[in-house]
Amino acid sequence: MFHNIPKPVLDRMKELEEIDTRDRQDGTPHIKRLNQVPPEAGKVLAFLAASVPDQGAWLEIGTSAGYSSLWLSLAARQKGKTLYTFELLPEKAALARESFKKAKVEDVIELKNGDARGHVGDFAEVAFCFIDCEKEMFSEIYERVGPNLVRDGLMIAANVSIYLEDLSEFIAQVEADTSLDTVLLPVGKGLLVSRKRTP
Ligand SMILES: C[S@@+](CC[C@H](N)C(=O)[O-])C[C@H]1O[C@@H](n2cnc3c(N)ncnc32)[C@H](O)[C@@H]1O
Repeated sequence: MFHNIPKPVLDRMKELEEIDTRDRQDGTPHIKRLNQVPPEAGKVLAFLAASVPDQGAWLEIGTSAGYSSLWLSLAARQKGKTLYTFELLPEKAALARESFKKAKVEDVIELKNGDARGHVGDFAEVAFCFIDCEKEMFSEIYERVGPNLVRDGLMIAANVSIYLEDLSEFIAQVEADTSLDTVLLPVGKGLLVSRKRTP
């Protein structure tokens, strides 16, 4: 998976890494920044996604320009899956659409422009869910997706280490959920990884 990353994917990843770095340095307002995961977190996300059971949908909440989706596309292609990725803002969705076209991954990624909260509950079985939207929405997404995770399915929340205080209620809620085993991986800005337990 990591030994043969297609050139169009690598090229678009590099472009987005450059834009993200520049945005963080030149005072671009937070809402306009890509705010994407660092490369090492993208790699871990793809590694973990490739390990989930075959049955169940793959979801990503918060696409931005599609950087983490590009990492996840590597695993989706390997496993013959489609990644459904949700982006609220039309301008970010347009950037993501451009990313997926340039990277030639439109066959494994389906972009949904809109509020994920209205849709994630429609997936009756979920094998993988990456939550990377506004931290205030994490609990709501978890409440809709958690019950539909298949056995050994993964739910991963981003930015947990940098928002430990703001996310304390969400973290406590997930850690107290006896249907999940949960660990905090110190990768990127902290990934809270939960796996659905065998009952
Ligand atoms: C941190 S960025 C995502 C970064 C992306 N996962 C990456 O690593 O490349 C968060 C994105 O979530 C989007 N977002 C926020 N709330 C959302 C919602 N309810 N549904 C869908 N997208 C949402 C924001 O517009 C923003 O583009």
